[in-house]
Amino acid sequence: MKFHVVSEPAYQVAADVLVVPVFEDEPATSHDLALIDEAAGGLLAQVIGTDEMKGKPGQFALLRVPAGLATRRVLLAGAGKPENFTVGAARKLSGAAVRGYGRKGVAAVAFLARTADVSAFDFAQAVAEGALIAVFAVDSYRTEDRDPVTAESLTVIVSEADATAIKKGLERGRVIGESVNFTRYLVNEPGNSITPTCLAHHAQVVANETGLAVEVLNEDRMRDLGMGALLSVSRGSIEEPRLIVLRYTAANPTDATDTLALVGKGITFDTGGISLKPADGMEKMKYDMAGGAAVIGAMRAIALLKPDVNVIGLVPTCENMPSGRASKPGDIVTSMLGKTIEIINTDAEGRLILCDALAYARQLGATRIVDLATLTGAISVALGTTYCGLFTSNQPHADAVLAAAKNADEKVWQMPLDAEYRDLIKSDIADLKNTGGRYGGSITAAYFLREFVGDVPWVHLDIAGVGWNLENKPHLPKGPSGFGVRMLVEFVTGEKGSGVGNQGSGSES
Ligand code: BES
Ligand code: MN
Ligand code: ZN
Repeated sequence: MKFHVVSEPAYQVAADVLVVPVFEDEPATSHDLALIDEAAGGLLAQVIGTDEMKGKPGQFALLRVPAGLATRRVLLAGAGKPENFTVGAARKLSGAAVRGYGRKGVAAVAFLARTADVSAFDFAQAVAEGALIAVFAVDSYRTEDRDPVTAESLTVIVSEADATAIKKGLERGRVIGESVNFTRYLVNEPGNSITPTCLAHHAQVVANETGLAVEVLNEDRMRDLGMGALLSVSRGSIEEPRLIVLRYTAANPTDATDTLALVGKGITFDTGGISLKPADGMEKMKYDMAGGAAVIGAMRAIALLKPDVNVIGLVPTCENMPSGRASKPGDIVTSMLGKTIEIINTDAEGRLILCDALAYARQLGATRIVDLATLTGAISVALGTTYCGLFTSNQPHADAVLAAAKNADEKVWQMPLDAEYRDLIKSDIADLKNTGGRYGGSITAAYFLREFVGDVPWVHLDIAGVGWNLENKPHLPKGPSGFGVRMLVEFVTGEKGSGVGNQGSGSES
């Protein structure tokens, strides 16, 4: 999608549809609206204030072929109360407008900038992200009955004073929105399309396109490094495992001794292994690499936005399959750190691949770690599909991640990780066991990971509940959410500034 900025009266802008945000209880005589209403001979005034358009969030009214305007349609879009018109509200409005009305031959969308209390930069970023995220097509394998979004361009109409900030905001929004969609593409592809080798190939292509350094470890390298936990998961599959390492090196790092590691679970398909999952819903387990895909998408955006901090992205990736070679319950494996693990349930495989990747991140010099994983079904029992669960060994690090999530408008809730939970993963025969029983399943999973990060400040995000949207929404299709990309990018580029000029933070949802 192409983004443009124009500074001219809205009634002169030629487009297939002109989106006009309308605030709650706002009369058609209010400043921005009056000019359009006058040009349209009072057409807006006939609708605004009636039940058709009260300015409520999510409300839309389409006016066709308005005489006096250069556009073919006007889409009045409820924006809610001005004080509630946050970055999140602007993103939703933009997404719902394009997803709902950008089809059936609509190519050019114009958008009247109305920012209320949001900065012009943040508004533009939200409009760009909202539009891009909304138009992502999940039905890529359908050969018939498609009704794709056809909107190709989005032109923001803005005062000359704000034009530069809007341009920069659109550019940042484009980078982030496209990166979120790249992540969703990887997640949406089925397991027979994106294998571990193929995921690594995608990472290599992204690295070459954006100037990241990339290294992909194969099975032999993993064996040399002693990654017995990771290898125990992949051994049931004929597909070889990979450990993807992407590196962003800042030109002028604010702190040359600081290296942030982003680690993402990359199980390209999780059958459960010998502890086989039930057939019902198993097809969804292609999204068990959503954490890894979020890391690759975030690294793409980071490479393009060029923040002043060094970042490494690590994605351990393999399949979890049953076979004659597969790991069995009761098997004991030795992780890269030398800790021994009793495998109680082969379906608790995420922690096994992550523990070796976390150890490797430390060997590469990580001084801060954030991991993302579709780790447990238990996190959805605790938090539903609205909030992602956060676990940490270091509260200041967690606070920084939580702040970034808030600015990026992704919902994250901190969970406990007290020492009492450690008892639940003690093994009678080895150092650790890979499950902690029925209670507190997402916490014992997180505690397992904690055993491998040492003193390095670490945050774990369990995205099993939020990685997949279960329902269609006006601003979003059901399917992969791309959760985590926006908050990671905000975490890395937000405070420290970025190449395309972030101007202050956004606001919460
Ligand atoms: N990938 C699953 C977790 C998951 C479940 C993600 C549902 C998304 C939706 C993970 O590997 C898993 O199977 N976890 C087990 C752990 C259990 C065996 C201790 C679970 O949650 O049941
Ligand atoms: Mn599993
Ligand atoms: Zn899994």
